[in-house]
Amino acid sequence: MPSSLVAIFPGSFDPPTNGHLDLIVRGARLVNHLIVAILQNTQKSALLTTGERAEMLKEISAHLPNVEIDFFDGLLVDYAVRRHADTILRGIRAVSDYETELQMALLNRRMRPEIETVFLMASAEYSFLSSRMVKEIITLGGDAGSFVPEAVMRRLQTKFPAANKR
Ligand code: PNS
Repeated sequence: MPSSLVAIFPGSFDPPTNGHLDLIVRGARLVNHLIVAILQNTQKSALLTTGERAEMLKEISAHLPNVEIDFFDGLLVDYAVRRHADTILRGIRAVSDYETELQMALLNRRMRPEIETVFLMASAEYSFLSSRMVKEIITLGGDAGSFVPEAVMRRLQTKFPAANKR
């Protein structure tokens, strides 16, 4: 293992979930510096702005001194090179994630063989969780309180007063 391991945990984080936080905590234990990188794209169906996602991620990872929150656009591997990262960290929940993740990891390796993708298995209690589902629950006025960290829920309730008010 290199003496100073820098990993990037990329994603949309719209919104950050308990599953993301679990991976951030576990990832931060494995590397010297973990960069949580929010994809900047102009997705029309986004629930939150990338700024809001960054604020939430900063709050939930504030107790982890080696975690940084950043944004990226363009190719992930180009961003990884710019940030001198050795590793891309991704989570796998179920077999259904494997195909897409394998494809991304192999394409990224083809473009930048020096960057290794490392997978962490999602903890069993979060293996059913996805931002997409949480987003749907929130926009339909449901209670997402047990799927996202408390700080995220508080901010979501401010932005979407109907959330968790049933
Ligand atoms: O949380 P997500 O939406 O599953 O994250 C997907 C993400 C951001 C990791 C992926 O879409 C990505 O890396 N996008 C950047 C563009 C890129 O590098 N594409 C080539 C990957 S093969």
